[in-house]
Amino acid sequence: TRRVRTRDLAAAKERGQRWAMLTSYDQYTASIFDQAGIPVLLVGDSAANNVFGYETTVPVTAEELLPLVRAVVRATKQTLVVGDLPFGSYEEGPAQALRTAVRFMKEGGCHAVKLEGGRRCADQISALVGAGIPVMAHIGFTPQSEHTLGGYRVQGRGEAAEEVLADAWAVAEAGAFAVVLEMVPGEVAKRITHEVPIPTIGIGAGPDTDAQVLVWQDMAGLRGGRAPRFVKRYADLAGTLADAARRYSDEVRDGQFPAAEHTF
Ligand code: KIV
Ligand code: NA
Repeated sequence: TRRVRTRDLAAAKERGQRWAMLTSYDQYTASIFDQAGIPVLLVGDSAANNVFGYETTVPVTAEELLPLVRAVVRATKQTLVVGDLPFGSYEEGPAQALRTAVRFMKEGGCHAVKLEGGRRCADQISALVGAGIPVMAHIGFTPQSEHTLGGYRVQGRGEAAEEVLADAWAVAEAGAFAVVLEMVPGEVAKRITHEVPIPTIGIGAGPDTDAQVLVWQDMAGLRGGRAPRFVKRYADLAGTLADAARRYSDEVRDGQFPAAEHTF
């Protein structure tokens, strides 16, 4: 077996074969998802919320994300690992974006990077692609700019559909190998997927994209509370883990653990 390459994803679009991406931030989930055949893992800046406990993705830094990128790369054999460039690490322009992306490739060891923004980041995308770094773009709702967008809101309703389409074309023409479409109407995502030649990866973008992505803690139900509408929970890890912790605690209190077989 070999690593998935960006050209495999282009070929999958040609064949009309859909695929799933997940986030991962540590070795155990990375290895499990790799062996489960998830072709692309994203070390998302959503580690801000899902690992570090920040309220938004704005504060997380390259210094915080790079060790997670390294862990996921080390734990996988087949998966293409994408490192997410954090807020503030590429907005100044192509030179800053290239400096950060080079760190992710060299220190993180990932196989591609992702950044948020359509037309406004086309120059950054061109610079990275020109330097030999595969870029995944991210348009529609972009969490790093949530304070401008006014919170988690669907982007590209009505007239605004043309804006999202223009962003999709801009990132494709700049050389991105794929584009995440976050929280855009299903019809808009469908149109982009048909018209724009690069693979589209939807999250809250309906069923007609080339691929889907979810945050793994959402997908597996590790995160409690109300999930966004676009999330489907495939497990109840929060319940399973809470139950395990309670039983362990009870057994220690009752003197049932450790038993003879756990004792030297
Ligand atoms: O950081 C992240 O988890 C993401 C995905 C939701 C696309 O950017
Ligand atoms: Na992200």
